[in-house]
Amino acid sequence: MSVEEDRERAKVKLKGVCGVYRICDGHPSRLCQGQSYGRPLGIGGIGSGASFTANCTALEALRLKMRLIGEHFEPDTKTTFLRNEISMPIMGASVSGVNSFGGDSVITEKELCRSIVLGCKKAGTIGFRGDTYTYSYDNTPCLEAIAEAKGWGVKIWKPREQEMLLKLIRKTEEQNIIAVGVDIDGCGSYAMPKHGKPVFRKSEKELKELVNSTKLPFILKGIMCIEDAEIAADIGAAAIVVSNHGGRVLDSTPGTAEVLPEIAVKVGKKVVVLVDGGIRTGYDVLKMLALGAKGVLVGRDVIRAAVGGGIAGVQRLMEYLQKTLAKAMKMTGCSSLNDISRNILYNY
Ligand SMILES: Cc1cc2nc3c(=O)[nH]c(=O)nc-3n(C[C@H](O)[C@H](O)[C@H](O)COP(=O)(O)O)c2cc1C
Repeated sequence: MSVEEDRERAKVKLKGVCGVYRICDGHPSRLCQGQSYGRPLGIGGIGSGASFTANCTALEALRLKMRLIGEHFEPDTKTTFLRNEISMPIMGASVSGVNSFGGDSVITEKELCRSIVLGCKKAGTIGFRGDTYTYSYDNTPCLEAIAEAKGWGVKIWKPREQEMLLKLIRKTEEQNIIAVGVDIDGCGSYAMPKHGKPVFRKSEKELKELVNSTKLPFILKGIMCIEDAEIAADIGAAAIVVSNHGGRVLDSTPGTAEVLPEIAVKVGKKVVVLVDGGIRTGYDVLKMLALGAKGVLVGRDVIRAAVGGGIAGVQRLMEYLQKTLAKAMKMTGCSSLNDISRNILYNY
């Protein structure tokens, strides 16, 4: 089995939802893109889809500086995330709700969770889990998958009503997992309120209460400006994810690669800075690391790998990403992740 074969199978299962194109670039012509006029968002971007497109074009615009004269080396992609050693600075993003696009025949939520958490673990890295309207205090397939992986996972909850969120965080803590967090940009969710699960903007005070409510490292996902990044650092978040939710919560944002550099400079010494949005290859990963990220998350490609190949499919995708990252490091003169800096970007 190969990544290509997984994608062929995913193409059949996701017919009408996702074209599983050779490059998932958020181009306006793609079948997932364009105004949904009140219909479910599917797998594309919100509104015109420009925020999803911007993630991809921002990365595409960067060029790598090929640098070859020097001693031979085999690149080392190993790193740590919140003191856990991982094989690569690439993790599975917190994606959820894929079964709502086309019924349980696409992939059940339980299988999506197992595929991402266990597939990432087999590749030596970490799977994040998301939150969707079918989840409740008593229905948490995400936590069961993480328990099956002996706590090897990260749980990101939607910014639900505060008391419920505190309860869910307490339940998460029982799994002794790597970290817990909230996607603050989830307050722009289309599906949650539509299904009677309201989501909210969160004040600094409320976020601080969440951080202090748990001994687990806390992650704030959905940071797109210096102001929010500084608040996250001030209230004791262990990590942030620079993310516009794959362009699914606000039309017309910049691409994440555009805002990452200033955020990394401002708070990179205080919190671990992760980023996601449009990352499809190890070459993209290298660009994000050069812009100051310590690690990246991959969303849509992980969904396709899980739908097409389950646990093994996700493992294959992550290993492919690791391989292309190593190749990119070798060709730009970086033997370890510490060697990566803006110098490897051409004309930046
Ligand atoms: C179908 C779908 C479902 C998602 N569900 C969640 C979720 O439940 N929680 C969350 O934090 N992010 C969610 N995201 C956003 C991803 O975690 C991630 O930020 C985004 O997909 C990264 O961009 P990429 O898909 O271009 O790699 C979802 C994204 C997609 C495409």
